[in-house]
Amino acid sequence: MAKILVAGSLNMDLRFSMERMPLEGETVLGDGLLYNPGGKGANQAAAAAKLDGDVAMLGCVGKDGFGDSLAKSLADCGCGVSRLRRVTAPTGTASIYVDRQGRNSIVVIAGANAYCDTEYLKECEDELKACDILMLQLEIPYDAVWYLAKKAHALGKTVILNPAPAPDAIPADVLQCVDWLTPNETELARLSGMPCEEPSEIEEAAAKLQGMGVKNVLVTVGSRGAYLCTADSAELIPAQHVKAVDTTAAGDCFNGAFAVGLSEGMTPAEAVGFANKVASISVTREGAQASLPKREEVL
Ligand code: ATP
Ligand code: RIB
Repeated sequence: MAKILVAGSLNMDLRFSMERMPLEGETVLGDGLLYNPGGKGANQAAAAAKLDGDVAMLGCVGKDGFGDSLAKSLADCGCGVSRLRRVTAPTGTASIYVDRQGRNSIVVIAGANAYCDTEYLKECEDELKACDILMLQLEIPYDAVWYLAKKAHALGKTVILNPAPAPDAIPADVLQCVDWLTPNETELARLSGMPCEEPSEIEEAAAKLQGMGVKNVLVTVGSRGAYLCTADSAELIPAQHVKAVDTTAAGDCFNGAFAVGLSEGMTPAEAVGFANKVASISVTREGAQASLPKREEVL
């Protein structure tokens, strides 16, 4: 099985549940607060590890209780955590509002994640050399992500970049290093500068990014599934029908599962089908890492 390395964020999620989101200037009474391990990087690593992927994580947490919990939770999932860095800044946090329809709004405070910089990642180059698939997101400094994508590509690794939260742009020389770009529709619209509501628009926007050097684009479209856009074809691979209660980390779960599929030698279409199934389970449960299913359950 191929080895997966995730470099990215770890956050303690403070999840507030409520009937409906507050409007600007409004106070609403919520009905629950949960502390859950989260962060896009850690969620993707946890998703892959819970599916029995061979995965390790690079990232930074504070020397505080949240940092202890996040490192332990990731290790308990089966992810390698020996190279996580402890820094003096507080562990990253996310405030997540979830309404009764399962929709969410998130504010992330980077904290220790801001120290996941190029210098630290250079110190961990042995981990990069040892992996086959590198999975990246955008909750750590951009320079660090761009550096790793280029380095991994030069070493012949498969690079998956989940461009979330959406940046204004990704440098052209980084796009050329990406084997799999995995935006949702909003992120795709932002990166391509094109509307992405209709299927034809999604395919055109993905083709534009492929024209800029990205090898393949995998666009997640929530309950509809995901568009797999390769050099040869573009097809929608449908999701499972489920009743969603909380979509937090659905995209992370999808990315982690997709990486595991590739690591096991599935074809891209098979890996997307697998990722849809895994992510559809995650949306039926509350929380980020707490919602991620184990391999036995998916089977
Ligand atoms: P988030 O930011 O909430 O983590 P996202 O916007 O990055 O999510 P989505 O496109 O919403 O990602 O969802 C990712 C994947 O999760 C989808 O491609 C699909 O496989 C699954 N999924 C999401 N929502 C649903 C749903 N309501 N029913 C079934 N599957 C879903
Ligand atoms: O993608 C979901 C994640 O986004 C949450 O766990 C939160 O920490 C934010 O990073």
